[in-house]
This record gives sequence, C-alpha cells and structure tokens, in this order.
Amino acid sequence: MTAGKPDLYRELAEELAALLAGEPDFIANAANMAALIYHGLPDLNWAGFYFRRGAELVLGPFQGKPACVRIPIGQGVCGSAAARGASVLVADVHDFPGHIACDPVSRSELVVPLLPAFAGMAGEVSGVLDLDSPLLARFDAVDQEGCERLVALFVDHVSRFPG
Ligand code: SME
Repeated sequence: MTAGKPDLYRELAEELAALLAGEPDFIANAANMAALIYHGLPDLNWAGFYFRRGAELVLGPFQGKPACVRIPIGQGVCGSAAARGASVLVADVHDFPGHIACDPVSRSELVVPLLPAFAGMAGEVSGVLDLDSPLLARFDAVDQEGCERLVALFVDHVSRFPG
C-alpha cells in the first residue's frame, strides 16, 4: 500500500476540506474528521481526539472502543506529543515507557499535536489526534506527514470559524 499512500492522504485532505466547508461547529467537525480517518485508513482500531483541559488531555470525538478519558500532559504517547508539541510515532507500544493501554489490542500508534494555526502564533498545543493500530509498525513518515496535513487543515479551519 506504500505506493498509494500519498494519493490516499491527498484524497483524505480533499474530503476533509469538503466536510469542514462552511461548518463552524467544533464538535461536529472533530467527529466527522475522526470518522473520515477511521474509515479511510486501513488497519486502525481507534482514531480520535483528546483536547487540552489545563494540565490534562480529555477525550474528544473518536471512532473505536471506549477509551481512557483523562491523560496527564507528559504521560503516555498522547501526553508526550502534547508536551513536546511534536508528533510521536511508536512502532511498538510495548517499547514506549509509560504507554497507556486503553485497548490491549493496540500495537502501534501515531499521535499528532494540534498546534496553533500560524507559525509563530502565541498559544499552546490545544489537543492531539491519536491513531492506533493492532499491527506492529503500522505508521511511517508518510502517515505522519499526511496526518499532520489533515490536522493543519482542521486547526486552520477552527481558527477561522471558531464554533
Ligand atoms: N495509548 C494512548 C492512550 C490513548 S488510547 O490509545 C485511545 C497513550 O499512551 O497515549
């Protein structure tokens, strides 16, 4: 599937832009984005958001099994991505110290932080997009870049349509 991956992310970006177009409601947009990713990318068992509430991340719209509701910033893969303000790609969650096992089936993970919409804009990470897979090493640099682009589209939309 590697050869088709950039095309798949281009299609997902177009579909996301179409879903977001003209819609200011934050929860509706986050929910549709989670559904788009969960059903659009193969081999996922969870896809969704955690949003920053003070020193914690709190569960947002997602697709998959019920998950841990609160994650302290700095803990687990999600909390680390939020603390660093950078994506974290984990090939084998068993090798990630402090990994929070919401679902023991998850083996690899990609977490992308929601950074402020404009480079240099004041503000902190407002949340993360978390993708989990039951396959080892499911995510690579193409997935990271593709998901960072989707998150950038979402954050940019939210900054222009605060709903
Ligand atoms: N595994 C994540 C927790 C979130 S769930 O997988 C949905 C982590 O370590 O941050």
